[in-house]
Amino acid sequence: MKTPGRLEERVAIVTGGGGDIGHAIAQRFCEAGARVCLVDLARASTDCFPAEQVLAHTCDVTDPEAVEDMVEAVAQTFGRIDILVNNAAAEAHNATVCELPVEIWRRILDVNLTGAYLLCRAGIPHLRKQKGVILNIASQLGHVTARGHAAYSASKAGLLSLTRTLALDHAEEGIRAVSISPGAVMTDRLIRRAGSEEAAFEQHAPRHPIGRLGTPREIADAALFLVSDEAGFITGSDLLADGGYTLK
Ligand SMILES: NC(=O)c1ccc[n+]([C@@H]2O[C@H](COP(=O)([O-])OP(=O)(O)OC[C@H]3O[C@@H](n4cnc5c(N)ncnc54)[C@H](O)[C@@H]3O)[C@@H](O)[C@H]2O)c1
Repeated sequence: MKTPGRLEERVAIVTGGGGDIGHAIAQRFCEAGARVCLVDLARASTDCFPAEQVLAHTCDVTDPEAVEDMVEAVAQTFGRIDILVNNAAAEAHNATVCELPVEIWRRILDVNLTGAYLLCRAGIPHLRKQKGVILNIASQLGHVTARGHAAYSASKAGLLSLTRTLALDHAEEGIRAVSISPGAVMTDRLIRRAGSEEAAFEQHAPRHPIGRLGTPREIADAALFLVSDEAGFITGSDLLADGGYTLK
């Protein structure tokens, strides 16, 4: 009998693979038998992956040609592409609309939303052959918002909407599109912004009814379920993995 959640034979591209959540997703997929390509602006570390199951590509997801070249290189090396994970995100910038420089607004929308569009555009022809899956990493701030998060929230709300349209447009081809909306997850990104792990906990934990932050592994477990055959009837959906953040 097939073990639930196994991804043998499958090939996944994970953008933002140099960050904590992208790295955890790639690692979880590898444990389930997939081969993965970690995509990031700088070469992501592949130290804790089996060499035959991993590739690392440097690629800016906002560059259409670079994304197409990267997708073709992955298809050449691994022979197929089954799963696209749009996880890359620009650094958030806390400011009201009047204070937010237009170039930062553009960069956040470009990386978080246009980057996902570009990877889908390049990757869907490959996904068609495998009846593949697109997984977009959104955020609880795509559902609600927070002061000073205009660009980030708009980009993540856009990603939720893009997920639904992708699901509808490609359902008949057997391609599913889904998203996860994490609450605050204890990552280097969050620790850096807060100043320390303790400060990150104090700042974020009280906003989550569960009383703590999520872990990259918890997001990766949700990701594994959503891209696996066990989620075969789920498309266009968003999975809130936010410790209850959006309940209040
Ligand atoms: N950490 C959290 O609390 C949290 C909460 C909700 C949602 N998320 C989402 O989860 C995802 C991962 O978050 P994380 O905390 O691991 O962040 P992170 O900053 O550690 O990882 C994001 C990665 O994306 C890469 N990246 C940025 N611009 C890129 C570009 N143009 N091309 C290619 N790669 C690029 C960065 O170099 C980085 O390695 C993001 O989409 C984020 O918005 C995170």
